[in-house]
Amino acid sequence: MLDTPSHTTETKRAAAPIRAIRAEGARIAVELVGGRTARLSTRWLRLACECEACGDTASGKRWLTPADISTAIHAESFDASTPGQVTAIWQDGHVSRYDAAFLASHTDDAGAARFEPQLWDGGLAARLGRFAFDAVVGDDEALFQSLRALRDHGIAMLTGVPAEKEATARVAGRYGPIRETSYGKVFDLISRPDARVAGETARAQIPHTDEPFRYAPPGFIFFHAIRTGAGTGGTSLTVDGFHVAELMRTGTPELFDLLTRRGVTFHREHAGEVFFSAEAHVISLDAVGQVTGIRYNDRCLAPQQAPETEIDSLIEALAELTRLICDPQNQFQHQLQPGEVLVFDNQRVLHGRTAFDPTLAVRHLRSCNIDRDGVHSAFRTLARRFAPEEAEAVLYQGAIF
Ligand SMILES: [Fe+2]
Repeated sequence: MLDTPSHTTETKRAAAPIRAIRAEGARIAVELVGGRTARLSTRWLRLACECEACGDTASGKRWLTPADISTAIHAESFDASTPGQVTAIWQDGHVSRYDAAFLASHTDDAGAARFEPQLWDGGLAARLGRFAFDAVVGDDEALFQSLRALRDHGIAMLTGVPAEKEATARVAGRYGPIRETSYGKVFDLISRPDARVAGETARAQIPHTDEPFRYAPPGFIFFHAIRTGAGTGGTSLTVDGFHVAELMRTGTPELFDLLTRRGVTFHREHAGEVFFSAEAHVISLDAVGQVTGIRYNDRCLAPQQAPETEIDSLIEALAELTRLICDPQNQFQHQLQPGEVLVFDNQRVLHGRTAFDPTLAVRHLRSCNIDRDGVHSAFRTLARRFAPEEAEAVLYQGAIF
């Protein structure tokens, strides 16, 4: 098991109060309690006004625009004598009041706090979050703990979920609105001879993300085990895509780089019904170069369009990724039991399974999808109540491109 600590607590900002504040040329000089000094942009400060006329950022009722604030803007005076508050009077007489902790939190040049996920390999079992159905549907704090596990590991287990369809929808609906797809809202994956999708066959599946051929693939996937034919195969395999991406970044940096900047096309066609095709990066990076999303399914790869000089490198990059995904050291293996629901982030965690004998067992999983921003919104909303310092960190935003 990797020993990657959560950086959550390290990315928290100390809400240092402000001791003094004054205009200094085109900038605002801020002196914090503890002696640190910092400078703020005058234009930024004016734009951050949250009075009724300027608007309220959080709910999105914003009236002031960047174009309304001249580059020559300056403040006539400041008052920081009221604890926890800073008042600015601008040259046109407009008065702005700011929360001192809010201003202090914007004096750090590092930018917004970013959440760093905890990476995992085949040893996940010891750290996998398990949450009882009754607790998750009945108790917001238990729900929050499970959302935190999903944020940290991209995967969690719910237990004791009744076999009824309503129970699947009820528990999944706690995490956000269920996405309706061409299969419906809550759909059954039952092994059958006339299989239309691979999930209905008994074949082994290499761990993959679902539906990379959509511009916006499913966010979080719920697999509710109804019947599993335990002992006849069909073991679930999951892989932390962020972990294998980091292995690639270290081991074969040129191949990692290719998957972050070269479009790869995934497609799926059922003739006369649907034809999905998306060209996107297999590894998405965020604005500071952290891995933020994975999109990969060997079964949906289209014949790639690339210059003759690049195509072999691209194929080798996909081959290396496939080898890492198939390496048992990187796979968390689990035989699902009836009543368990495996929840995972489909833009981080790859899922697959071993083959099973369909003459010995019927495998029945019930599934539904929730968009990732719905789940992250549920997390942030509950974090306001149960862990306010975690509510505003930038979360990894998925297979964005
Ligand atoms: Fe799948």
